[in-house]
Parts: sequence; structure tokens; C-alpha cells
Amino acid sequence: MIMKEHKIEKKIKTKDYNQTVETMLTSPYFNEKYLNTYYEINYQTNHNWPYLINTFLEKNYSSYEINNIFEYLNDENIEKLKSLDYIDLGDYIKISNVEVDKINRYKEFQNQNNTTLDEAVTKVNIGLDKDFYTDITTISNPNSYTLLINKYRSLPEDYIPSDLTSLSINPNMKLRKKAAEAYEELQSAALIDHVIIIPFSAFRTKDYQNKLYTNYKNKDGVLIADTYSARPRHSEHETGLAIDVRSNTLIDNLTENDYKWMLQNSYKYGFIVRYAYATSAITGYIEEPWHLRYVGKEIAKDIYEKNITFDEYYDLYLKDQENKQTENET
Ligand code: DAL
Ligand code: ZN
Repeated sequence: MIMKEHKIEKKIKTKDYNQTVETMLTSPYFNEKYLNTYYEINYQTNHNWPYLINTFLEKNYSSYEINNIFEYLNDENIEKLKSLDYIDLGDYIKISNVEVDKINRYKEFQNQNNTTLDEAVTKVNIGLDKDFYTDITTISNPNSYTLLINKYRSLPEDYIPSDLTSLSINPNMKLRKKAAEAYEELQSAALIDHVIIIPFSAFRTKDYQNKLYTNYKNKDGVLIADTYSARPRHSEHETGLAIDVRSNTLIDNLTENDYKWMLQNSYKYGFIVRYAYATSAITGYIEEPWHLRYVGKEIAKDIYEKNITFDEYYDLYLKDQENKQTENET
């Protein structure tokens, strides 16, 4: 034992003593066989870190890879990586919305579709490497005003929003409180610009969405119905955050002029045109000029400026925040 300690001391003296080595020497996880590698690992203040670096060294990650892990990955990814066998993370590690347990799916998607790494990560995270309505996740925070609901994400079976508020133009139409207030603002602002908008569908119960979808399916078949109607528990209308608007009672749509106004102005009141032109490969729906989704002013503006779908935006900028909120609530 004394001999061993002496040997270690000698080894240490031959190199510049560094904080990583110092920390490891006093940690119960110190392992002599990694001594030289400890020198190459950047010091971190994370209290769990001595344990983590040893865990990764045991999985055969190099010091270079370990430094990247701590530089680029968030706690959730580090936690996941800890329980997986070695994965060659390559440049995926530097992508902000990477999820380490999906690396093989990214690689396959990228090969098959010849995309950039960034595009592969976002699309696979959304679920697009699998068919619509497969691998469905139940939304854990359905009361969030920024929740993402689509063909891969469903509301809990029994969820009903608790703050539904009637719209002044039609008390039978309801939205969640903030969305209802924002809608009134949008409608008044449109009117000032001589754009008349009339709501024709707002909050829908699960049973009502089911009835609608089933009727469409019986009329047009599943494949077609799925392009314009959400299956029950998958519709934004069931969240109380979506509203369909039309220009007059003869059409269930906006006129070209009114649609243009909506595309250019709805974000100022916290709404996005959720299923816009050329986004069906991501959303799974045809263009719906009439369908507005409330997300709040700040996010709506950001989405407008970035000109991406809400599915992509959520994966890139919102999911971490939403997951944290859910943790705090439970
Ligand atoms: N028409 C939209 C996609 C819905 O049914 O929610
Ligand atoms: Zn709609």
C-alpha cells in the first residue's frame, strides 16, 4: 500500500499537478489506472463529477470525449449516457437539441435522407423517422400554454382545461383565459385594418373531436382524413389554445387578403398560423390558413422571425424548459 502511494506520488510529480488530479485523489472513485487520463480532463465543479468521469472512463470514452460531454451535454443527456454502452457521439454532441439515446436513429435518418446533422436531430426528435401516430408520448404538462401537441404527442385521456373563457363574439366558443383575451385583441386589431374575422371552431371536447374525426374518416378514409383532421386527444382544439377563423359565413376559410394579414400580423397578438404552406411533411397536415394557435406574444414573434414550424421550435427552444417545469410540479 505504501509502495503504491509512493508510486502515484512519483507519477504526479512528473507532470503539472492539476485540479482534476487533486480532486480525484481525494475522491473515493480514484482509480490509479486512469491517472494519466485524469490530467487530460478539464476540471468541473459538479459534485457528482468524479463519479461520472470514472463511469465514462470505464465505458472507454477518451479524455477528449469526456471533455466534450461536460462541455456540450445537459444534465439529462449526461444522465442518459451514464446508463448506455459506449456510443460514438461524433459531431452530434455539439448540437443543442441532441438526445443521446437517439444517436443511431439520427445516423440512419441522415444516411437515408441525406440531411445535415442539425436537420436529422430535429426531425428525429419530433418523431419523423417513424410513421405518424407511432411511438406516442402522453403530454405531461397539458396546462402549459406552450405545450406541443401533434401526431406523436397526445393529451392525457381525462384532461380538460380548467380556465375556459367564452369569446364575446360568441359565448359558445371558448378558449383558455389568456388565449381568449389575446383573440379579442387580434380580432379588434384586424378590424382596424378592415379585416373581418369570424371564429367558427374553438375549444372541442375529446368526444366532439372523436365525432368529427370519425365522420371525416367514414367520408374520406383514414389516409385523407388524417391530412386535415386530428385524431381524438391529438388536436390543438382540445387544449383550448386553437381557434379556426373565417372571413365570412360562406366559407370555412380566410380570403387570400385576410390570410396575408394573418400571416403578417397574428404573431403580434400571440398567435401563429400553425399549419402553414409547405410544412405538411413536418406537421402531417395540409395548409390550414384558418387554424390559429395561441403560444404567447414573445414566442409567436420568435417563430414568425425564424419562420419554422411549432414542432421544430418546440424541440429546439422549449422542450428543456417544459421538462423542467414538469419536474418542479411533480
Ligand atoms: N384540423 C386540425 C388539424 C385539427 O383537427 O385539430
Ligand atoms: Zn383548427
